[in-house]
Amino acid sequence: MTVFRLLAAFVLFLIAFPANAQTVAQAPSGSKIVASADSPSKVIHVDVTLNPEGRVGYIVSRQGKPVIAESRLGFLFTDAPEMLRNFVVAGQSTRSFDESWEEPWGEYRTIRNRYNELTVSFDETKWLKRRMTVVFRLFDDGIGFRYELPSAPNFAHANIADELTEFNIAEPGTAWWDEALEWNREEYLYRKTPVEEVGVAQTPLTIRTASGLHLSIHEAALVDYSGMDLRRVADRDLKANLMPSSAGPKVSGDLPLATPWRVIMIAPDAPALYKSAQIILNLNEPNKIGDVSWFKPMKYVGIWWSMHLDQATWNSGPKHGATTANAKRYIDFAAKNGFGGVLVEGWNKGWDDVGDNGWFGWGWDFSFTQPYPDFDLPAVAAYAGKKGVGLIGHHETAGNIANYEKQLIPALDLYQGLGMHSVKTGYVADAGGIQALGPDGKIHFEWHQGQVMVNHHLKVVTEAAKRQIAVDPHEPVKDTGLRRTYPNWVSREGQRGMEYNAWGEPKNPPEHEADLVFTRMLSGPMDFTPGILSLEGKGKTQILSTLAKQLALYVVIYSPIQMAADLPENYEANPKTFQFIKDVAVDWDDTRMLAGDIGDLAVFARKQRGSPTWFLGAVGDEQERHFDVALDFLEPDRRYRAEIYRDGDNADYRTNPRSIVIEQRIVTAKDRMAMRIAPGGGAAVRFIALDR
Ligand code: NOJ
Ligand code: CA
Repeated sequence: MTVFRLLAAFVLFLIAFPANAQTVAQAPSGSKIVASADSPSKVIHVDVTLNPEGRVGYIVSRQGKPVIAESRLGFLFTDAPEMLRNFVVAGQSTRSFDESWEEPWGEYRTIRNRYNELTVSFDETKWLKRRMTVVFRLFDDGIGFRYELPSAPNFAHANIADELTEFNIAEPGTAWWDEALEWNREEYLYRKTPVEEVGVAQTPLTIRTASGLHLSIHEAALVDYSGMDLRRVADRDLKANLMPSSAGPKVSGDLPLATPWRVIMIAPDAPALYKSAQIILNLNEPNKIGDVSWFKPMKYVGIWWSMHLDQATWNSGPKHGATTANAKRYIDFAAKNGFGGVLVEGWNKGWDDVGDNGWFGWGWDFSFTQPYPDFDLPAVAAYAGKKGVGLIGHHETAGNIANYEKQLIPALDLYQGLGMHSVKTGYVADAGGIQALGPDGKIHFEWHQGQVMVNHHLKVVTEAAKRQIAVDPHEPVKDTGLRRTYPNWVSREGQRGMEYNAWGEPKNPPEHEADLVFTRMLSGPMDFTPGILSLEGKGKTQILSTLAKQLALYVVIYSPIQMAADLPENYEANPKTFQFIKDVAVDWDDTRMLAGDIGDLAVFARKQRGSPTWFLGAVGDEQERHFDVALDFLEPDRRYRAEIYRDGDNADYRTNPRSIVIEQRIVTAKDRMAMRIAPGGGAAVRFIALDR
């Protein structure tokens, strides 16, 4: 064949198979593609499919490469036929959106919300002839979609047995996940397995595919619905698994109903994955509670670690931690060192009933208004006010929301009356052990991530907002970005925090935080409670960290409230290291991950809000790690004094954890910073802008 004939054959081939006809019309499975859309810069693409049975599916690709292979959509109900086949397209529409919005506090001052939206409605041709609408939002770094079920005369209420949403991961890969439905709620170490070995996982579930794509599956705007776990059904096919409810249906709601957004963050590398978590916020509604300038991001101390060390008790008695005198000591310490708040746990009656009666009498004994006699709440609040420190309230419920909700309004009124602007709540109960008052007036056992708790948290948050109180739940419902809508929902726990280094068996391993950054932290702020400079847990057991890493955590693990969790005497014994904790910011104009690898390394630069000061924080894992990053985030043509806190040259969390080097250097945006992170180590830097 001559070159000419070859070319002619190719041209003919092109005419016979116009570029799109094949791909647009048919998915590899033989399903028909009935709708498609691209993200604004055409990075992410979705195809919506119908198979010969009339089952709805979707396919996601990035730059032409499949990310999610054809995956089905639909519902099961407890009192109505399934909603999964016999669909035809009833209509479709698209729209584009682009806006920038400002976070009142956060990791970024402004966030751009730019997407293309595709809405496809399907009608059942048989049975109840219901409609199911699916709305897709395509961002350049991920996709969100949700169902909308309109109301119809024969379908005005949905009792959802489960969602049939699938996420069929196209490529093999490694998954970082923690198990769902186990007794200890969301407090498990991350597992790292092939996708084919995932069991039932919580979200965010993070995957690095064989070709190097970074994915994380989560949800956004979880409101009046049940939280979603992921259950692997076959190969790499993950399926939504809604949390159970004592009522039978996992979700119950009047129609019209919109589900939370199902989100797939899709990024070329680990730092880009971290940034793609902005999608979660973008899929939430704007602020509904108005001005929150009364909430000031802050660092705080508290009567807390001493209890976890067993040196003091929550309950009354000779070792009672929450005494008036002790609280005043912490307030003095906070005032002297520039901390914004003091948390006092164990201040209220109800902590004494231990023994055979469950954890604190199954929570029935807790009063949220009556202090123990040795704690003068009004006097302590007044003392804190005089010293310019905020008192942080504490509501441990032991998961008994029946007892808590009964007292919620007077409890919040009490704090408001005392000028208190924040409360830490707690739900220590085994999974499935939440006690809630049912519509029948009886106690029902519920799940921390179930619909009842989703609604409970929003009730607490909205009632607190009316009283200018910020909320920080422990053993919480997962974060799905509702802080955009309710910015008084400032932080939460929801994974293993520092407390595991007091009494955990095992303690948090050195890679824990490098796992958290790419999993739990994609969902939102965590009240991790860093800064244990003694490096010792209960019974003087050694924490698996170097000293420098304890400082790095303030930059790496984001929260607008950050505890300096150690005992005041341990800070006083380490004044030079403590200086960084005093200096570090908690609210940011901008955040950049400079280098990162899931479970191995995370290096962040963050710019203090309203200031030219930048901070760098880096954590590694159990191995020695290195980074070498450009400082081009700094303002050009400006000199900065870099105050560096790094692992000593022979630091090692096993043998030499306290070895730290504190040094200064003058740097500019043209410089680089290279550092060794010790096994179990980290690094923290403050960049102070100098006069020009
Ligand atoms: C568990 C919380 O995570 C911890 O911070 C708190 O001290 C205890 N519950 C008691 O409320
Ligand atoms: Ca690792």
